[in-house]
Amino acid sequence: MTLRDNVGLELTGAAGFVQVFRPTISAMIRINENYTKLKASYLFSDIAKRVTAYAAANPAKPVIRLGIGDVTEPLPAVCLEAFHAGVNELADRATFKGYGPEQGYAFLREAIAQHDYAARGCAIEADEIFVSDGSKCDCGNIQEIFGADIRLAIPDPVYPVYVDTNVMAGRTGGNVNGRYEGITYLESTPANGYVPAIPSVATDLIYLCFPNNPTGAVATKAQLAAWVAYAKANQAIILFDSAYEAYIRDPQIPHSIYEIEGARDVAIEFRSFSKTAGFTGTRCAYLVVPKSLQAYDAAGNAHSVHALWNRRHSTKFNGVSYPVQKAAAAIYTAAGKQQVKAMTDFYLGNAALIRKAVSGLGLSCVGGDNAPYIWINTGTDSWAFFDKLLNEAQVVCTPGAGFGKCGEGHVRISAFNSRSNVEQALERIAKALK
Ligand code: MLT
Repeated sequence: MTLRDNVGLELTGAAGFVQVFRPTISAMIRINENYTKLKASYLFSDIAKRVTAYAAANPAKPVIRLGIGDVTEPLPAVCLEAFHAGVNELADRATFKGYGPEQGYAFLREAIAQHDYAARGCAIEADEIFVSDGSKCDCGNIQEIFGADIRLAIPDPVYPVYVDTNVMAGRTGGNVNGRYEGITYLESTPANGYVPAIPSVATDLIYLCFPNNPTGAVATKAQLAAWVAYAKANQAIILFDSAYEAYIRDPQIPHSIYEIEGARDVAIEFRSFSKTAGFTGTRCAYLVVPKSLQAYDAAGNAHSVHALWNRRHSTKFNGVSYPVQKAAAAIYTAAGKQQVKAMTDFYLGNAALIRKAVSGLGLSCVGGDNAPYIWINTGTDSWAFFDKLLNEAQVVCTPGAGFGKCGEGHVRISAFNSRSNVEQALERIAKALK
């Protein structure tokens, strides 16, 4: 008898009652139904599928990818040298390494504390840094240590991982007209220069990203100070994604939220070697969780967020490979700093070309000066614009609607590609849009 046969099977009992046999819910494997609230596929997987299908159908028309922010330039020479040396150590019994510390090797954590924080006047200790295999994972995983019923504040448009992982965890209702119930959306629009205002309601976990993905907008010290004050007033925590800080050129713009007084008590920061030093394929990032940061249980008792994350991290993660951490640490040498600057300058050079060309076509845009992304206000359906660029220029961009409701009418162009590909893409775009 099949399960289907069982459902609703009527049996006549001894006393003549009709009993309906239904398998109890626990008798079958069940899914996490929160996943059914998500869009069918992740934004960048969706785009990749469309581009692959187009390329397969049009083999004579080479596509230039300015969609996902994936780097194209080789790793800095210092990183490669350190990477090779690290691999060589693994080849010798005397220097071989097995499991490393889950939180990262001391040489890398100390270099980060010194060069990314002490050098900017931020008091962050090496043991407050957790080395990981990527900011995408860190941004996605961090929510696990917070309550299921906390109130979320998430920008719109936004890197989709922040929203999707909270949907998966059951912190939202369904998606109604492009927005999940239960999230306070922080709108970034042309009217506010794409820097969202502080909400008028209290929230508990606030996601911020500066320089911003996707808009390329940056936040001033005063703007971040207002967020820190809001978080303090609400006993909330800010998750500050600073993956693109290496692209900041304006000396007035803070690189870290810890440049703001009091932020140690209210903020976690995400950093990555991906866009800083070309590690998208190599994988290395880190999370800063200050020991002074506290969150509360239902009875109001304070708990160390650092201790919670350390428990989670050491249970579910076994560290980034030794050669990769050696390669990452190399960016903090004098030569490494120069090479990272040269690489980020190169991508910013692409960004400047994109901005100029797009503005020349009469489209307004922001970003690209302190960030590798240019956010273009096309004023038209963003997926239709994506299709137009793909079909008529063979250029891939990212439709703004994929980042949220406020992204509609915009597309994002990434500056990550070779100079010749960017130049060619801009010529093709000009032709297609004229
Ligand atoms: C993006 O294009 O938004 C990023 O490359 C995605 C990521 O860093 O995961």
